[in-house]
Amino acid sequence: AVERTLSIVKPDAVGKNVIGEIYSRFESAGLQVVAAKMLRLSEELAGGFYAEHRERPFFPALIGFMTSGPVMVQVLEGENAIAKNRELMGATNPKDAEPGTIRADFAESIDANAVHGSDSAASAEREIAYFFAASDVCGRS
Ligand code: CMP
Repeated sequence: AVERTLSIVKPDAVGKNVIGEIYSRFESAGLQVVAAKMLRLSEELAGGFYAEHRERPFFPALIGFMTSGPVMVQVLEGENAIAKNRELMGATNPKDAEPGTIRADFAESIDANAVHGSDSAASAEREIAYFFAASDVCGRS
């Protein structure tokens, strides 16, 4: 089925100037960018986005990293978009990521891991609504 998923190009990848290379991976895999914006996350915005991780030991480092520089946030649309994006990203820890995935090629560590992608249909719905109004999403399906 055609799905939508939320993707974030994190501060490390923005800093490496590889937004376009990462977008090319999405497009080559048949995913379309149907909404996008660049912003610098505040602690409040980052904390709300990652609320499910609030009690985890890595939460302070995660928020510190995600607010360290601008991010690019986008909605990707396409057949099986949620799983397809996760395949393109590779494992959360770049040490475990398959060769040729975004994290294997661009990420340095489990914190500076280049990209975020929704992990389920429910997360995708919540995460897209967290950043975009329905009228901001320019679906083509
Ligand atoms: P992301 O997919 O954005 O979701 C939460 C982020 O927390 C994750 O990517 C990692 O960058 C970061 N993180 C740091 N340590 C861990 C950990 N032990 N398990 C999962 N995520 C972690």
